[in-house]
Amino acid sequence: MSVERLKEVREAFLRDLDAAGADTDAIEKVRIQYAGRKSGLLQELTAVLKQLPNDQKREYGAALNDLKKAVAAALDEAKKRGASAGVGDKTSGVDITLPGRRRSRGAEHPVHLVRKRIESIFLRMGYTVEDGPEVEDDWHNFEALNLPPDHPARDDQDTFYLTGGSLLRTHTSPVQTRVMERQKPPIRIIVPGRVYRRDSDLRHSPMFHQIEGLVVDEGITFGHLKATLETFLRALFSDRVEVQFRPSYFPFTEPSAEVDITCIFCEGSGCGVCSNSGWIEILGSGMVDPRVFAKVGVDADRYTGFAFGLGLDRVAMLQYGIPDLRQMFAGDQRLTRQFE
Ligand code: DAH
Repeated sequence: MSVERLKEVREAFLRDLDAAGADTDAIEKVRIQYAGRKSGLLQELTAVLKQLPNDQKREYGAALNDLKKAVAAALDEAKKRGASAGVGDKTSGVDITLPGRRRSRGAEHPVHLVRKRIESIFLRMGYTVEDGPEVEDDWHNFEALNLPPDHPARDDQDTFYLTGGSLLRTHTSPVQTRVMERQKPPIRIIVPGRVYRRDSDLRHSPMFHQIEGLVVDEGITFGHLKATLETFLRALFSDRVEVQFRPSYFPFTEPSAEVDITCIFCEGSGCGVCSNSGWIEILGSGMVDPRVFAKVGVDADRYTGFAFGLGLDRVAMLQYGIPDLRQMFAGDQRLTRQFE
């Protein structure tokens, strides 16, 4: 046993460690083989020291110490290599050098944005927001609104019927009848919500959104209806819009009017959006028909009222320039992300 042997061990160690590369398991094996406390090679080489003749002890001891230091330093170095290699290494499970996964932020749907704006306009005017069921009965959706079973206007609202006689409400108007049944005037409400009709094309979706309005009190006139809707439409679109009331028909109002605004794109001069008419039809309205009051138990000699209904989706399409109504409900996040 001699200093020669120490040289051989050093070379073998360096070779083995080199072969282990950055593999932490392999490095650990090399460490145990050479520097392991119980049966490492260095341990053996240390034991040899005692048996050496005195004249050789000094040289061997010094060389052995040298070797131990070199082994320790090389192992340290190798471990560092192994640790940093593990970082980019897929097999270690977590690769902290990869860019993090961003959590995408949600965005409010354009219809929701429009609904919130409309609600805030009416809340400022002292209205409250009411809610009603989407699965309705025939009475509230039709009959109490002066649409008896054989009424031709039922055909305009191609209805989804459910088993057991209920249906998906075709408009938000049934909430008018529900509120009047349970609440005495004065009533001043708006009702946003989903409605359903069997219809699907560029401008129709089987599910869409409306906002209903209802005011009932003593002395309510068409003048109140007109002023309210003009104020509302100017607050919603712009101070510059003109508002036009056209005589119309709804079974639940008498007289009835459809309301147009001057086109918000061409300001009335005529363009593709308004079919060159300069006007955009925006809502239906009228004075509550006394027959509706009779159905829900409101004293028509004492009270009068007005009501209106408008499509939220149509307003969102106009305000945000969305060409196809069905796009809004396709669940494509590229649409909503624009409203982040
Ligand atoms: N419910 C009607 C529809 O869906 C809209 C409407 C018109 C509501 C006139 C009203 C109203 O309250 O007075 O077409």
